[in-house]
Amino acid sequence: MAKIGIFFGTDTGNTRRVAKLVAKKLGAAADNPVNVNKASVDDLLAYNALILGTPTLGDGELPGLSAGAQAESWEEFLPQLKGKDLSGKVAALFGLGDQQGYGHEFVDAMILIYDQLVECGATLVGAWPTEGYEFEASKAVVDGQFVGLVIDQDNQSDLTEERVDAWLEIINPLLTD
Ligand SMILES: Cc1cc2nc3c(=O)[nH]c(=O)nc-3n(C[C@H](O)[C@H](O)[C@H](O)COP(=O)(O)O)c2cc1C
Repeated sequence: MAKIGIFFGTDTGNTRRVAKLVAKKLGAAADNPVNVNKASVDDLLAYNALILGTPTLGDGELPGLSAGAQAESWEEFLPQLKGKDLSGKVAALFGLGDQQGYGHEFVDAMILIYDQLVECGATLVGAWPTEGYEFEASKAVVDGQFVGLVIDQDNQSDLTEERVDAWLEIINPLLTD
């Protein structure tokens, strides 16, 4: 069975930790998570099933140098996907944010990855309900749901594991079909 590829961006390590938790839960079904700043586009395109994680930094931005991150990240990687054909690939997104500190742009960066993948023809799975979060606005809400799993390590870290478990139950059959 082909493995699931997990790629993440991070500034302070929260998204890496969630990526590792996701990988641990998936066991043999997934390869070890890779920081996008160490990945090539071909590395990502090698998988037919993908899990992609990002925090939101700056003002609702992807992690990367212009958002003040310590290293390159999704901001620098994502434009390289432009024009690539991801049709036939299935992808699920997870995003980290801080609903109390950034409630007007909560997990906004997820939508940037979502839109790029849709433009490339990928099938996106793993939309996630907005219940259980308190925020004013999020660009990552489409048709009343977040476009992927939302994790808030700043305010709700006690819910992270159960959220990951519930989300994996939804996406696992869709990614491993
Ligand atoms: C400078 C800065 C800007 C942030 N901007 C946002 C934001 O616009 N929206 C949001 O939901 N969270 C925002 N956050 C919260 C982070 O996304 C959150 O702390 C996340 O867990 C960081 O993940 P990382 O450790 O993988 O970098 C911001 C955090 C910092 C430090």
